[in-house]
Amino acid sequence: MKIAIGSDHGGFALKEYLKPLIFELGHELADVGCFSEESVDYPEQARAVTGLVKKGEADRGILICGTGIGMSLAANRVPGIRAALCHELFTAEMSRRHNDANVLCMGGRVIGPGLAWEMVKIWLTTPFEGGRHERRLNLIDPNSY
Ligand code: RB5
Repeated sequence: MKIAIGSDHGGFALKEYLKPLIFELGHELADVGCFSEESVDYPEQARAVTGLVKKGEADRGILICGTGIGMSLAANRVPGIRAALCHELFTAEMSRRHNDANVLCMGGRVIGPGLAWEMVKIWLTTPFEGGRHERRLNLIDPNSY
């Protein structure tokens, strides 16, 4: 898969930790930044990652800020984006099975790199179950409001 990844300064260290591991799994990576721990505004990276996913130029997105909250708020403003803020394995897995999440948000100041990596692996490999969950997703499609 092609994975778009982005962070602000609060998620930079975790992004850098995850990148080579994701690459070693055989995925293609598009890193939209940031590229240092200098302070930046997370909506910029959220916009860049979700833009790639929305246009089909990336299959999935990963967004990391300090808490993951700002990134998830920003990402879920974008039609077609289903961003899940997760900090443990169960919700990371269920965000795929039931919610078909196409963006995973995490907090670099909330979880450690080992847990984040386990979450990313399960999130990248778990399929969407469809069926009744598809009907529910259609009910929250921005075009249905
Ligand atoms: C930056 O200090 C911090 O506010 C940001 O990384 C994020 O946690 C916002 O939701």
